[in-house]
Amino acid sequence: LAAHFTAKRLQGQHLLVTAGPTFEAIDPVRGITNLSSGKMGFAIARAAQEAGAQVTLVAGPVHLPTPRGVVRINVQSARQMQEAVQSQVGRATIFIATAAVADWRPAEFSDQKIKKDGSGDVPAMSFVENPDILAGVAQSAQAKAGKLYCVGFAAESHDLLKHATAKRLRKGVPLLVGNIGPATFGKDDNALLLIDGKGTKELPHASKDVLARQLVDEIALRLPAVNP
Ligand code: CTP
Ligand code: CA
Repeated sequence: LAAHFTAKRLQGQHLLVTAGPTFEAIDPVRGITNLSSGKMGFAIARAAQEAGAQVTLVAGPVHLPTPRGVVRINVQSARQMQEAVQSQVGRATIFIATAAVADWRPAEFSDQKIKKDGSGDVPAMSFVENPDILAGVAQSAQAKAGKLYCVGFAAESHDLLKHATAKRLRKGVPLLVGNIGPATFGKDDNALLLIDGKGTKELPHASKDVLARQLVDEIALRLPAVNP
């Protein structure tokens, strides 16, 4: 019975998770994106489903199989990801943002492929900031009422503790998870630094599947007693 309880520690919970990069189109054949593999988010979706949660996975463009029993919504851009999240978040009790959302998108989208004009001139390009999906969700009435537990990730190249601590407060999330680098994008393993209101905890180097299960345990322990 104890083993069963442990295995189904997210029973009755509904997890919404974002994963992968976003792709911000410049014209019909080009765009900007990043090297996020989506592996951590997909591993979390799988681990949470195995722990008894209903799981909805909003995925940017990645070539990964959908974990069994998980509902997947594919998106390309940050704005599409935000729209998908907003359409699903109402039924969620946990939101985990692992996606490497493009911070900026091209200010203009060209309907037609941009052609070289033969002069050697390069096109000028300007950018606008994308919406912060996690911050928006974390500031919603649902989250503020304690009905939605929000978890953010942080990829930092330096001063992880300092930046991740500041990011946690800026985003207004109870739990912020830092990738203990270097260069975790695309790899099958990682190490994580958990930062919450009480302090920090390290999940030492392991496969992303193992870390995902440990993170699910840590989140289950932190869920408010009455949820939803
Ligand atoms: N995030 C998001 N929407 C964005 C940017 C980030 O939902 N437009 C989420 C990410 O999924 C992650 C967290 O916010 O969970 C932190 O992302 P990160 O890129 O580390 O932070 P930023 O706020 O974008 O700051 P910066 O990239 O400048 O460090
Ligand atoms: Ca960013």
